[in-house]
Amino acid sequence: MIGIASDHGGFALKAELIKHLEDKGYELKDYGCFSEESCDYPDFAHKVTDAVLSGECDKGILLCGTGIGMSITANKVKGIRAALCGDCFSAEATRLHNDTNVLCLGARVTGPELAFKIADIFLGTEFSGDERHLRRIAKIEG
Ligand code: RB5
Repeated sequence: MIGIASDHGGFALKAELIKHLEDKGYELKDYGCFSEESCDYPDFAHKVTDAVLSGECDKGILLCGTGIGMSITANKVKGIRAALCGDCFSAEATRLHNDTNVLCLGARVTGPELAFKIADIFLGTEFSGDERHLRRIAKIEG
């Protein structure tokens, strides 16, 4: 299960991305927001980080206008490693190297087609498991 959430800035892209990923066979749980009415991105980021930490979701996707507010919020939660990605190389590298469990996207920065590709790569790439990357991740987690 993939948990997904946005604020109003990411709402429209979230709807398109849900459809894209469901068409690819992924199961998604939408944690809001549910309209373009102005809202606070941390409220929705925390719903997804909670779901990832509890095991309800394997990974999370968070969208806001820039992706920055969502990534700042998610990365303050212990056990969450969130990557704000605007390119395909980073989406692959962050799964291989950082074993990130949350993808952040900026809906006012990244167009739908690129966002779809980034999400496909992020969800389709396994962590390398290399010892050096495990050591570095352990240092993040403290
Ligand atoms: C909302 O206007 C905007 O600040 C938000 O979507 C996001 O870009 C914050 O980082």
